[in-house]
Amino acid sequence: RTVYLNGEFVAEQDAKVSVFDRGFLFADAVYEVSAVLNGRLLDNAAHLARLARSCQALDLRLPCAPEEIEILQNRLIAENNLREGAVYLQISRGNSGDRDFDFPGETVSPTFLMFTQARPLIHHPKSQTGIRMVSVDDIRWQRRDIKTVGLLAPCLAKEYAHKHDADDALLVENGLITEASSSNAWIVDAGGTLITRPLSTHILHGITRQALLELAKQNDLRFEERPFTLEEAQSAREIFISSATTFIWPVVSLNGKAIGDGKPGDITAKLREIYVRMAV
Ligand code: PDD
Repeated sequence: RTVYLNGEFVAEQDAKVSVFDRGFLFADAVYEVSAVLNGRLLDNAAHLARLARSCQALDLRLPCAPEEIEILQNRLIAENNLREGAVYLQISRGNSGDRDFDFPGETVSPTFLMFTQARPLIHHPKSQTGIRMVSVDDIRWQRRDIKTVGLLAPCLAKEYAHKHDADDALLVENGLITEASSSNAWIVDAGGTLITRPLSTHILHGITRQALLELAKQNDLRFEERPFTLEEAQSAREIFISSATTFIWPVVSLNGKAIGDGKPGDITAKLREIYVRMAV
């Protein structure tokens, strides 16, 4: 792969970052993942707006204007002939030459890197079969709205899921589901209403989530933004997750118990179809 690092497009084995980079030592870095479909970035303006928001929350400088970032992303897509997958982008506070908790001054420039990942989005097998989930305690920090690379808790949650015969985990805090380990969580109630947690510092403000709410509105699908409990999820008609890397994946079981009839739900399938139609 050709990757991007600090102004240069280089072969991945030639991209080197210092051991003193604050992204590496302190997870002092933010990231974005934008989906790529037919060689084109999807909803990228929203991803870059969220990136700017994450940077601002941490007093981190954007390395260049969003329009310039998009030009670099598109060049990387072209260099790698990427048709379907994602562009990963990360900005750390940079290398201050030693391990020091204090923020370095303006003289230290951010480390800006990007790489592409080829993966199926439209025809991913899990979008058809659905996934099995388990619930775990949400042990993440309290600013989940900032998209930082401090992702050890989600890694542990996914590892726990795999050890318990599941694909992924729903995160639970005070009896309420916050989101999934790397996607937003939704349920469909008995009456067919889509339910997802409202925006706050407790969840990442998913770009796919926002697009789906917009599409639900346009297509006269009932939805509600409100917190929901693990019990509600367990007895929901349908559950699904949304993100740039999955679009929508149905959930067929939770903690070993079937959701609905144990098959991907109809409303989930319909919403996914609407989303894919808009995306291609
Ligand atoms: N994850 N919630 C969490 C905790 C996430 O990590 C993500 C995205 C989402 C969905 O956001 P969006 O629709 O903007 O992708 C929700 C990315 C894909 C990742 O970490 O790979």
